[in-house]
Amino acid sequence: MSDYRDPTQPTAARVADLLGRLTLAEKIAQMTQPEKYSVTPDEVAALGMGSVLSGGGGNPKPNTPATWAAMVSEYDEAARRSRLGIPLLYGVDAVHGHNNVHGATIFPHTISLGAAGDPELARRVARATALETAATGVRWDFAPMVSVVQDPRWGRTYEAFGDDTAAVTALSRAYLLGLQDAGDGRGLASPHAVLGTPKHYLGDGATLWGTSKMEMLGLRFHIDQGDMRVDEATLRAKYLPPYAAAVEAGALCVMPSFSSWNGVKMHAHRYLLTDVLKGEMGLRGFLVSDWQAMDQIDPDYATAIATSINAGLDMNMVPYDWRRFIATLMAAIESGAVPLSRIDDAVGRILTVKFEMGLFEQRPGDLPPLSILGAAEHRALAREAAARGMVLLHNDGGALPIGGGPIFVAGEAADNIGLQCGGWTIKWQGEVTRDLTVGTTILDGLREVAPPDTAITYSPTADFPGDARAAVGLLFVHELPYAEGLGDREDLNLPAEQVALIDKLRARCERLVVVLITGRPLLIAEHLGRAEAWVAAWLPGSEGGAVADVLFGRVPFTGRLPLAWPG
Ligand code: GLC
Repeated sequence: MSDYRDPTQPTAARVADLLGRLTLAEKIAQMTQPEKYSVTPDEVAALGMGSVLSGGGGNPKPNTPATWAAMVSEYDEAARRSRLGIPLLYGVDAVHGHNNVHGATIFPHTISLGAAGDPELARRVARATALETAATGVRWDFAPMVSVVQDPRWGRTYEAFGDDTAAVTALSRAYLLGLQDAGDGRGLASPHAVLGTPKHYLGDGATLWGTSKMEMLGLRFHIDQGDMRVDEATLRAKYLPPYAAAVEAGALCVMPSFSSWNGVKMHAHRYLLTDVLKGEMGLRGFLVSDWQAMDQIDPDYATAIATSINAGLDMNMVPYDWRRFIATLMAAIESGAVPLSRIDDAVGRILTVKFEMGLFEQRPGDLPPLSILGAAEHRALAREAAARGMVLLHNDGGALPIGGGPIFVAGEAADNIGLQCGGWTIKWQGEVTRDLTVGTTILDGLREVAPPDTAITYSPTADFPGDARAAVGLLFVHELPYAEGLGDREDLNLPAEQVALIDKLRARCERLVVVLITGRPLLIAEHLGRAEAWVAAWLPGSEGGAVADVLFGRVPFTGRLPLAWPG
């Protein structure tokens, strides 16, 4: 008779044994993922909850690596106190480092990795992210986003690798391997490995402007969570390959998209979720919903839950009203609306992943040390990645690399960690705060890298004393931080107040360089002649020295546009 606690038993035998011991209520609890603000460790213990997440900014107070580790450990220990002691899967969005945690290395956003175009670099960044994430006890990352972006007006453009299917496939596969393989021969069973989550299935980057029905905080989304209108041949050729590669590379969890395909919500799409992803492509693991996404399936909650679970969703990311979900799913099973076989399949998938991740055997001392968060070698890697993602858009008269002479620096983004990191940093939407987290501003990087005795004067508003002129003017233009549909933006023009800074600094320097600190391309064609050089630095993350390395020529420009730049 096999015993699920026996690690020498085959996973299938352990799953079968454990499934046979679970009550229906405990099975449903394994399919339930509340947000940490909505559930206590004692409730996790009492119910045998399967998972808890921190949404963007779901931080302990104070927010430190140690308080994160204590928080996650408290929930995991609670789960291990439950009747059958099933360990918890704690999930976060570590989309450019363990970005909720103050002091973690903030890597450049994914679009930079797309511009660098090097799968090995993407793998290394993911590996470092996994170590910092696992060190806090979090072994599940809702990343990589494998969207093939078609419209840069989308607020999630910077979370993607780009608009080319082959490049997105290669880079996202490498990133997944970086998360899931610690190089110790143990695969996902290593306590230094993190479960990745290719997302958002399917075609989230191909929705059309104006098709979103989502509203949040009084703002309309326009393209995020919208409708993709393509035929199946296009769907399969353009948007499916990153998932096929991920499943082949060992993905055991996929997150469906809020969006729709020809009017049918992905969270209700049985053909794509079950027949294609689980059947045809052979995903052995489980599907976790997006944030309350099941609720959008039908105005009647019971119908929404039954439809989504029957379509193939296995775990519900139900941040707030998880009690309602549990009661509703229980009723759906008792009424026959959801067959018990579907529940056993969902729970079997979740348990398979937990066994294959070695969670039952994991001990606290197995995790990476907390000192790995923000470690020098990780910051050096972040600096390398951000530098390699920078793209030279225009360079007249050899303005770059910067030569000698005094330098005037302007633009708020030159001296603001919050602006250089963008959304999904400490807070869900990020924040315009100079010292949002530990790091180096671009200005501090310029001062570090510039030749000795170089006079560097900074004015965010380009107001420089007297009538002195600089040899070089550096203007950093930016977007305010945003995430998801709150970043959907129809007008990609440079804002007038930032265009005004171009002219102000133009008047005070021999050669002018404009650097974009943005999550996507902006419309600059009409302004190109106003400056000798233009650079896309995207959202470089905590290591602003990367920008200085490239502007001063310590690191060459090697980045290439990861997506079409609108005219
Ligand atoms: C968000 C995003 C998804 C993220 C999840 C948890 O709404 O759509 O990418 O993983 O919720 O934060």
